[in-house]
Amino acid sequence: MAQFDRSVEDLGNIVCLEHINIRVPDQQLATTFYVMGLGLTRDPYIMTGTTNMWMNAGRAQFHMPTGEPQVVRGHSGLVMEGRDALLARLSDIRPALEGTNFSVREHNDYVEATCPWGNKIRCYEPGERFGQIRLGIPYVSLNVPIGTTPAIARFYNEIVGTKATTGIDGDAPIASVSAGNGQHMIFRETSEPQPEFDGHHVAVYLADFSGPYNKLLERDLISRESDQHEYRFIDIIDLDSGEVQFQLEHEVRSMRHPMYARPLINRNPTMTNRNYVPGGYQEATWSTNT
Ligand SMILES: [Fe+2]
Repeated sequence: MAQFDRSVEDLGNIVCLEHINIRVPDQQLATTFYVMGLGLTRDPYIMTGTTNMWMNAGRAQFHMPTGEPQVVRGHSGLVMEGRDALLARLSDIRPALEGTNFSVREHNDYVEATCPWGNKIRCYEPGERFGQIRLGIPYVSLNVPIGTTPAIARFYNEIVGTKATTGIDGDAPIASVSAGNGQHMIFRETSEPQPEFDGHHVAVYLADFSGPYNKLLERDLISRESDQHEYRFIDIIDLDSGEVQFQLEHEVRSMRHPMYARPLINRNPTMTNRNYVPGGYQEATWSTNT
């Protein structure tokens, strides 16, 4: 009989990191950066007005309600094909974003694009390290205080019930938390002072929804009882001392949430009115599985 490593298929309790929510003060500048620059696709079905915008990236999204700007303390990963086309788009929007925090830095294996308010997005070509993701958000990387990663990994293992390991990446200790198929939350230790938590959030879906809820409730860590399918927590604590190690709002959804695995439309950003081929919209592929 053929032999397979079945453990490769295992997911932890977080089955999907679905969105990153960051307020933006100006929807037009956000459109310039995320649609024209990065080449992502605005969700045409939900939050279609001028007070919020959901931006599709494969099976994940950035959510951008209007408000005081929020900035992830770290960076987000983005996988998409076509580095040259990306660089050309980012170059095209430079004049429109003059005077903002917008910047572009080229590295060997990624392009780091900074949004008008300072959110850093590292854009990679698809590759083995991102598994099946050809378009999507493979990880969010968060800067955490020195010495906190062992307690953070333990918190995700024991409270959230997902797989979390510690290690060294480059010169920094990290906790790597499994957050879906090819997706991770990376907590990276830094001695650089970080700003106070500003209220942004990440949304995750859990297979075991009530188990973590009960453990969080027992420790008085539930920050919001949103509805039947969703609760939230912010504090990631040391389970021995109770001390807060890092703050990040988690929008926790069950797999019975009506929006779980909702199909998202992703255009091919290289298609224009000039090269359009009749008969097809050349939709971007988000996975080698499609
Ligand atoms: Fe959200």
